[in-house]
Amino acid sequence: MKKYLFALLMVCFPVLALAAGGATYPMDSFKADLRNQESLQRGMALFVNRCMGCHSMEYQRFARTGEDIGIPEDLMEDYLILGNHGVNDQMTISMDKDDAEGWFGAPPPDLSLETRLRGGEWVYNYLRTFYRDDAARFGVNNAVFTDVGMPNVLEDLQGVVVNHCSHEDLVAHGGFSGTLDPLTGTRSGQCLQVQPGTGSMSVAEFDQAIYDLTNYMTYVGEPSKLQAHRIGTYVLIFLAIFTFVAYLLKREYWRDIH
Ligand code: HEC
Repeated sequence: MKKYLFALLMVCFPVLALAAGGATYPMDSFKADLRNQESLQRGMALFVNRCMGCHSMEYQRFARTGEDIGIPEDLMEDYLILGNHGVNDQMTISMDKDDAEGWFGAPPPDLSLETRLRGGEWVYNYLRTFYRDDAARFGVNNAVFTDVGMPNVLEDLQGVVVNHCSHEDLVAHGGFSGTLDPLTGTRSGQCLQVQPGTGSMSVAEFDQAIYDLTNYMTYVGEPSKLQAHRIGTYVLIFLAIFTFVAYLLKREYWRDIH
């Protein structure tokens, strides 16, 4: 009997642990589209320009990326390889991990496998929910990653985001959700609000930019998926043709028997 009780407890435990975790941020959904090459290319451009100062993608090579997402080698060399990398190099950076830890409190991790670790949805929401918080170390906090050590590096694009709730309410509430007035198009009850005129992109443009960036990071998390999709199409075409040939053969064999 004791054994059964113990087993029951083990089964229930993960549920209890989850329940004890409190509210989790209600994520906006994200669905990667690896066939959208333009999105992947824009995502890579943003990553190289805005993230690679601190984050590497050590498991990814420039050349392989170009091949997969349709960026010619000369364009890659001219616009996307900053610093002294060659096209066949891995996407490493020169920042020293120990220095970085001293500056930020935690070293910026390699992001090759980030979307597999956290999920695309997490990354998509994380990058859109930085907000000003005077009490925090870099004057910035994050709805998805409380007390984050990363500065808000895209504030000039998104604009200054202020939080009208406590951090706990924000997490329970959902940052940018709230009720939309269908007549005026304004939202009320939002915790996070972008101060108008402070960013160079509109909310929709910024969402799209982060979508592209997360899409690119999803591709890097599993580069062979793109190849698998392409090969999958050929396999289906082959099967269709082969079925037809097999059918003709079957007819030929059975002709004499009937
Ligand atoms: C100035 C340096 C810097 C830049 C630039 C930067 N980051 Fe960060 N990033 C950090 C640091 C430091 C951390 C670790 C934060 C922590 O653990 O508290 C981090 C953490 C992260 C994480 C969370 C990692 C995890 O799972 O714990 C993601 C995702 C991320 N960064 C993405 C990006 C993206 C995408 C860009 C480009 C738009 C970017 N970062 C630009 C410094 C930077």
